[in-house]
Amino acid sequence: MRCALRLLLFAVILPPIDALCETAQEALVRAEAAVKAAMPLAQTDPARPIFHVMAPAQWMNDPNGPIFYKGFYHLFYQLHPYSDKDGTKYWGHVRSRDLVKWEPLPIALAPSNDKGEEAIWSGSCTLNGLGQPMIFYTSISQGKSAFDHAEQWAAIGDDDLLHWQKSTANPVLSEALHGEKKIYDWRDPFVFHEGDKTFLVTGGHLEKKGDASVNIYEAENPELTKWKYRGVMFEIPEAPTAECPNFFKLGDQWVLFVSPYGKVQYFIGDFDTNTCRFTARTKGLADHGPNFYAPNTMLLENGDRIVWGWVTGFPSGHGWNGCLTVPRRLSVSRDGVLRQVPAPGLVKLRGDPSERHNLHLESREEALPLPRTNALEILADIDLGSAKSITLEFRPEAKARKHIIIGFDGVKVTVDGVSAPLTASTDRVPKVQLRIFADHSVLEVLANETIWVTKTISLLDPNSTLILRSDGGAATLTSLQAWPMKTIW
Ligand code: FRU
Repeated sequence: MRCALRLLLFAVILPPIDALCETAQEALVRAEAAVKAAMPLAQTDPARPIFHVMAPAQWMNDPNGPIFYKGFYHLFYQLHPYSDKDGTKYWGHVRSRDLVKWEPLPIALAPSNDKGEEAIWSGSCTLNGLGQPMIFYTSISQGKSAFDHAEQWAAIGDDDLLHWQKSTANPVLSEALHGEKKIYDWRDPFVFHEGDKTFLVTGGHLEKKGDASVNIYEAENPELTKWKYRGVMFEIPEAPTAECPNFFKLGDQWVLFVSPYGKVQYFIGDFDTNTCRFTARTKGLADHGPNFYAPNTMLLENGDRIVWGWVTGFPSGHGWNGCLTVPRRLSVSRDGVLRQVPAPGLVKLRGDPSERHNLHLESREEALPLPRTNALEILADIDLGSAKSITLEFRPEAKARKHIIIGFDGVKVTVDGVSAPLTASTDRVPKVQLRIFADHSVLEVLANETIWVTKTISLLDPNSTLILRSDGGAATLTSLQAWPMKTIW
């Protein structure tokens, strides 16, 4: 009744933008139009990446619900359709046949304002025991703070994953499950299956400030609408919270990603399906850059697991804001280090290479011409020899543009001012392989297949020259290949 009255009032006297009573279907239509209206500005912006997955326009953040289903790789993402700044969230949608070329699709999920829902936050996608595609997400209620209150909702998809119906059982998980226990910032349901059991983990913290923990629930019916709280699966020392937990088996080990408002941490160890406790043996940073957050993973048909992170830190005012990293394939080394290499298919985006081999570097600069584009992949093998350090500098032709420098000194790589240690010890590593993805205003650097640094940069000059320099001795550029990269769209 209240809703009907408001709608009448809005229709008669107010501009049609107050949407407190909108159904999800109405919200989808309005949101699509808003994204479309922002596309001309977004898609002509020179700083917009071309080989990173992103929304057609407007703000986006976390990758959500990656799933391979009926011949397509589907990726959803947090989308704010009304601005290129953070705001009310919907789920955007893209899909791909090969993890290389992507197709934008209509927005998948919008808030049901008519049911008191304000925003659709992060989550995951799985098949339930009836074989239905099912999204789990955090539903933010109108007028309530996400710090104090959240519910986990579900939606059932059609075969194309284009149309979603919210479950009539919503909320499928509510705070009542925890009894006396309070979980703050309770969110980001991630579903996984092990043996004949289905589990779901969420993030949050048990004290108002601190006690970050991953909580675990076990499904009690094949429809995945009834869940039992199994307790705290893992505590994250000294972290304020544990956003977007991602928990999966890689070989015979279990890997946990958590996003603790800072650099994303990974833990590798064992999971006991009876006690529902995870014990970590090793840990590390998923990415050392300042602009990587909230990664989410997809299991492929061949058993590989791929991760995407959200690249943060772009300026507003350009009609778009945010993209995902390139897809990275995960594995665990014998000593418990997480390896992430670019998904093999990415090489299909390469154009004709410029190459240089066995270049001796000593005291003076060497200038290598690059393909004339601001979308590049570079693969460089470097032997430090007697040098203290070596730098690769993207030197812009246009004087006003910034120089972007990547350095290596045997113990760390430095990417546009951000350093990442290459080894846990102080031992010098004389050789480095750098794999560099530079896409307009995004830079992702992978050193020795283990250390990633993701960083937003000021626009790469399409007429840059690569300047190589060694410092304090002689080094060798064993090989360098640079490819212009094609668009993924
Ligand atoms: C992580 C996060 C999630 C939340 C979503 C909201 O970036 O804060 O915890 O579900 O973003 O957009």
